[in-house]
Amino acid sequence: MTDTRPTLLTGAAGILGRWLRPRLIEKYGALRSSDIVDFAPALHGEEIVIADLADFSSVERVVKGAGRIIHFGGISYETTFDRILGANIAGTYNVFEAARLHDAGPIVYASSNHAIGFYTRDDRLDAGVRQRPDCLYGVSKAFGEDLASFFADKYGMDIACLRIGTARPHPVDPRHLSTWQSYEDLLRMIEACFATPKLGCTILYGVSNNDRSWWSNQLASHVDYHPKDNAESFAATLLPDGDRRDFEDPAVKYQGGPFAAEGYAPRRR
Ligand SMILES: NC(=O)c1ccc[n+]([C@@H]2O[C@H](COP(=O)([O-])OP(=O)(O)OC[C@H]3O[C@@H](n4cnc5c(N)ncnc54)[C@H](O)[C@@H]3O)[C@@H](O)[C@H]2O)c1
Repeated sequence: MTDTRPTLLTGAAGILGRWLRPRLIEKYGALRSSDIVDFAPALHGEEIVIADLADFSSVERVVKGAGRIIHFGGISYETTFDRILGANIAGTYNVFEAARLHDAGPIVYASSNHAIGFYTRDDRLDAGVRQRPDCLYGVSKAFGEDLASFFADKYGMDIACLRIGTARPHPVDPRHLSTWQSYEDLLRMIEACFATPKLGCTILYGVSNNDRSWWSNQLASHVDYHPKDNAESFAATLLPDGDRRDFEDPAVKYQGGPFAAEGYAPRRR
């Protein structure tokens, strides 16, 4: 049965949110877009609600009456634990709990490759590997995935967690040859999730069809995702003299790249 309730997008003023808004309206009709910052004017078919994800009653107001939820709001970079705690940890709990209370969903949640960023570039991962966050931001995304697992098992909710690699118009760094997801493929992934009859808690790697990908979605074959783009077409431009990077540099060695390298200082025994 078609869900005629508005689709909710959190993080709507963000980079991905701004790209997604018109496309979500085109695909699903009425859109409720929310962010902590104002981003008027609303598009035709869009309602804008300003809310802080850290505040449960505000989130309830945003979620009540919504159908599908695309939860992309939150802090998208490394910062203090206090800020991450409110926006990402409390924020994601608030969205999932309000969805449970008001029978909203299914939910597509923006997790991140930084939930597994301390695997090395030689590792090949599927959704069954344990999380290895590379920063506090990554820890908050790992928490969001665990929360999704809990809400799916305990309450039968449907939540897809997208471990987005690098979503941007095109790759600009050699690491992106492995991690890139084109905007169009990200949209394909969101649509495939919402077209899946029973998601439960599904973990997906948000990545295009890259020759150099480290990640497999074989454990999520119930989601009909067929990426069309491939970062390899940018390889000659990004690595004109072949790959001469220092593979022991933590920013190159670890899948999380600069997020894993920032402040990297393992204790020596
Ligand atoms: N862009 C990528 O390559 C990428 C990769 C991995 C994961 N992600 C995740 O995808 C999502 C969207 O990414 P983006 O690149 O558009 O990030 P972004 O930082 O541009 O957008 C995030 C939005 O969330 C909003 N926000 C922050 N704190 C909030 C709060 N307390 N209450 C309400 N809104 C709040 C911000 O104002 C911002 O508009 C994020 O959750 C990010 O962690 C993105």
